Amino acid sequence: MAKILVTGGTGYIGSHTAVELINKGYEVVIVDNLSNSNIDVLNGIEKITGVRPAFENIDCVDYVSMDRMFEKYNDIDAIIHFAAFKAVGESVEKPLLYYRNNLVSLINLLQLMPMHKVNNIVFSSSCTVYGQPDILPVVESAPIKPAASPYGNTKQIGEEIIHDTIYANQGYQSIILRYFNPIGAHASAEIGELPNGVPNNLLPFVTQTAIGLRKQLSVFGNDYNTPDGSCIRDYIHVVDLAKAHVIAVERMLKKLTKSRIETFNLGTGIGLSVLEIIDTFEKVTGVKVPHKIVGRRDGDIEKVWADPTYANDVLGWVATESVEETLRSAWAWEQNLAQRTKPE
Ligand code: UD1
Repeated sequence: MAKILVTGGTGYIGSHTAVELINKGYEVVIVDNLSNSNIDVLNGIEKITGVRPAFENIDCVDYVSMDRMFEKYNDIDAIIHFAAFKAVGESVEKPLLYYRNNLVSLINLLQLMPMHKVNNIVFSSSCTVYGQPDILPVVESAPIKPAASPYGNTKQIGEEIIHDTIYANQGYQSIILRYFNPIGAHASAEIGELPNGVPNNLLPFVTQTAIGLRKQLSVFGNDYNTPDGSCIRDYIHVVDLAKAHVIAVERMLKKLTKSRIETFNLGTGIGLSVLEIIDTFEKVTGVKVPHKIVGRRDGDIEKVWADPTYANDVLGWVATESVEETLRSAWAWEQNLAQRTKPE
């Protein structure tokens, strides 16, 4: 069976994708420097799948170590490149950290691919490339707007670097996946989102508030031009998202791609507001999430949700999990974590 390199494979989306790959019989090699994840994730993957993937503690920015890694696992068939920093606010404070980490790691991989005869790469991009779209739901051909943060810019530049490099190297291909907002956790509650420190993203903040780790959730703004005034996003179950990666890899390996680079939105097509998410979470779990409305967060987009038709038609992929089930899974994961970390 084909061998897949998963960079950032102990991270949130990476670990769920490793599980789906292993479930489909792929051999998985994880490269991660654990800068924003935990080695215990490998236990979670093993518990779910019965297989412990190969793991290398390497920073993808380290060209020499990556070169050695490719030598060691000398017949990698495809790369799924998750490893990146993703905190929008931090990227504004430390832009070079983001440009170096997110871009040098990608450049290293693209440079090493032809040397090690790896032809296929899946790149984690983001709906952030659309900025505030003029037309919703947003399609892949919508204009790319100036990035609102260095983080967002690394995704835009990353896509450009891939375009230039893939077209310059005959035989290489890439699938670019633009994620909307991944939430939720594996049904086993063995793996899930595990942010370091205070969460930036909505869902981990919701679950940590619900369990009592945080006093109160701040809702960033209720004066947007939306039905309830809070921002709207397209929240997608992380396992649905992970499955799309397996399909993308299969598509490249079977040479089913219609062009050397294909770009897909990965979303549900449903926009939900921050207040709707809180409300639905409270309904499905029966747990209250203390929250208060505060001012807008810098750089937030008012509303964005996907038109996933292209991915539905071409990949034969559809996000199937309801938001209720997704929120339940996030809560089960948070509760499982609390059990694990409870003092004896
Ligand atoms: C952002 C990025 C996205 C990136 C993701 C990864 C933009 C426009 N979006 O997504 O590209 O992949 O981070 O980290 O750059 N919210 C609250 N209170 C909180 C936290 C969030 O009200 O404590 C609200 C936000 O204002 C937003 C929604 O919840 O409306 C979702 O926020 P978040 O989970 O941080 O994701 P994005 O900002 O959409």
